[in-house]
Amino acid sequence: MGDTRVLFAASEVYPFAKSGGLADVAYSLPRVLNETYDVDVIMPLYQFIDREVFGIQEMGETFDIRMGGMTYPAMLYICEYEYMTYRFVYTPLLCDRAFLYGPPQGGYEDNDIRFALFNYAMLEILKREKYEFVHLNDWQTALLPLLLENELKIATKSLFTIHNLAYQGIFEKKALARLGIDEKYFHMDCLEFYGQVNFMKAGIAFSDRITTVSPTYAKEILTPEFGCGLEGFLQYHSSKLTGIVNGIDTEHFSPSTDKMLVTPYKDLRGKGANKNAFLKEIKMKEPQRPLIIFIGRFTWQKGLEIFIDALPEMASMACNIVVLGDGEAKYHDALEALAKKHDNIYLEFGYDEALSHRMYAASDFFLMPSLFEPCGLAQMIAMHYGSMPIVRSVGGLADTVHDHAAFDSKSQKGYGIVFAEADHHALLSAVTNALALYGMITQYNQIVKHNMLCDFSWRESGKLYIKEYETLKEES
Ligand code: GLC
Repeated sequence: MGDTRVLFAASEVYPFAKSGGLADVAYSLPRVLNETYDVDVIMPLYQFIDREVFGIQEMGETFDIRMGGMTYPAMLYICEYEYMTYRFVYTPLLCDRAFLYGPPQGGYEDNDIRFALFNYAMLEILKREKYEFVHLNDWQTALLPLLLENELKIATKSLFTIHNLAYQGIFEKKALARLGIDEKYFHMDCLEFYGQVNFMKAGIAFSDRITTVSPTYAKEILTPEFGCGLEGFLQYHSSKLTGIVNGIDTEHFSPSTDKMLVTPYKDLRGKGANKNAFLKEIKMKEPQRPLIIFIGRFTWQKGLEIFIDALPEMASMACNIVVLGDGEAKYHDALEALAKKHDNIYLEFGYDEALSHRMYAASDFFLMPSLFEPCGLAQMIAMHYGSMPIVRSVGGLADTVHDHAAFDSKSQKGYGIVFAEADHHALLSAVTNALALYGMITQYNQIVKHNMLCDFSWRESGKLYIKEYETLKEES
């Protein structure tokens, strides 16, 4: 740990609050950075976070945030968790809600105020304490570089990481006044986006460096297909943009020490015991068949349309299919109907960390047919647990999973079944190839064993982030 202080901000951090991969990265990346810098992680203290369990304590600092002619009381909290310092911002409007961003049908109306308050509270901290860097993640933290722009006395440099460009934090123009943001920022080189206010644009325009979570996604977001309307704006700022692939926490996700497994394992024999136990647990017939799993949010992004279109034919093949996840009602309903019809499809709604670990351990294939994927963590976890990924070659999936046809046992790359087209025919032929490969068990085993030994940790990517920080140091 060095003397350089970093404030790492995210709207969700595992294990305090999680809706997706952002929370996992906000847990694991700061830990690697903390070996070089002195990192504090900061997030909102949502009401559902158990203060007692985590030993979260008041820091005795209450202050008022003045924003758009209103005054909002704020309080700071702190805890140590697994040798890291976590700081929390509490303001009732931001934190006293049942959901992070809103019920599944849509976001809260006042998310602009809620997350602006988080940014203003961080500004207040930076006025009082010296941090050399602030590391921001996604739109919920993207206003801070704009707020810092007006504070010439604060020497904090900002690095902004985009985890998903599809969520930009877009609000009506009238938000400007309630957020206390000067009209001078409402133009197309700044916050304005088709007549509305766009938080993400503030982060892109005013941060000192921008990263996104894989090199391929960094290129993709400069194109109309993946740029979500910001491709031109990102092209303009591309000199400060880099792609750094995410890592996984290989201590938390380690098949040989995983306490959530019936039998932790180092090799394929041990994995077989997990498969048997799991299929018994869910009472799946014909357990000798290859097991294909899907774990993820039921959203368009994750390729649910093509997955659902492919499922009836997949179910007619000699395999078992297990699905775990939650999301949009139309996908729930379609999956439920299919699971009722085919007894080799097993479906579980919800988010269940322990069950997901048992599924990684039990499965032979991990399906991730995403339409776009900034990075994706699950495919790396799957490879680490000896489950071969079947993925579409987009974003981080293209960077982390290479097609088995090019298998090279001497490389440090992970291999799986890779397909290109975003339609269910392509997905079905990938599944057919997967099952054929499973039939050639020696070859299949060789690749799976190789994947299990690959390094998917933050070791290399952590160094790349440090390089970004050091570049900023030199510039100042
Ligand atoms: C978002 C992206 C996912 C990425 C994660 C962490 O959830 O959709 O691809 O892995 O953020 O960066």
